[in-house]
Amino acid sequence: MNERLTKIVRDLIAAAGKVLAENNVTREEYRQGVHYLAKVQADKELPLLIDVFLEHLVIKAEDHRGHNSAQAIEGPYFIEEVPWVESALKTAPGDEGEPLIVRGTVKEPDGATVKDATVFVWHSTPDGAYGGIHEGIPSEFYRGRLKTGADGKFEIATTLPVPYTIPDKGPVGALITMMGHHTWRPAHVHFKVRKDGFREFTTQAYFEGGKYVDDDVAGGIVDALIFPIQQEGKNKVLNVDFVLDPKTS
Ligand code: DHB
Ligand code: FE
Repeated sequence: MNERLTKIVRDLIAAAGKVLAENNVTREEYRQGVHYLAKVQADKELPLLIDVFLEHLVIKAEDHRGHNSAQAIEGPYFIEEVPWVESALKTAPGDEGEPLIVRGTVKEPDGATVKDATVFVWHSTPDGAYGGIHEGIPSEFYRGRLKTGADGKFEIATTLPVPYTIPDKGPVGALITMMGHHTWRPAHVHFKVRKDGFREFTTQAYFEGGKYVDDDVAGGIVDALIFPIQQEGKNKVLNVDFVLDPKTS
């Protein structure tokens, strides 16, 4: 028997039971719910449904116990096998998005910098789509991986991402609309950092004052991840600092 699994499933069922009882949910409403989930499954939107409503809560639970800086949801569009990049992410020909420089430092909880960490960076096109996912955009566009230098720093040039709407034509979009919400996420840059001896770190950076930054459909915003944008000549600059959680076992 798997005790951890048993406890988590039992607790989830008990929590659901409390909500159903408090709201006097009827048998008919329950059947409608089952029917809805079958439709979500048929339309292949089950991961979307669960990620939009629950992934941010998993991150919150995880961050609660670590010494790392704030993490954020991974979302569905991380790709493992992406090019190593030097100074810039590949952007689409004719991309007229604003030039953006992403600068960061990777640290340990005591402030020591972490050299030779692998940093994955990925974000949307200026049209709010993802390379290798949405049609017509090769997977090496708007994503790449690089290593931190001896000083724990990394820097990469790209163009400014824009707000993104999660798939809104299917049952998940319909539910969100019925709940009186829009289907947008604020503009963001995704990061994943890996280094031996530390827990994998996954986060996003959002832009201060950005549209939907206080109203993300995926509930994925953490105040500590909203960064001011600096202007340096013709470039916008995003400056991020990440703290990794040392593995204890
Ligand atoms: C979704 C897309 C994202 O780019 C993201 O960061 C989170 C969620 C989505 O489509 O569910
Ligand atoms: Fe995203």
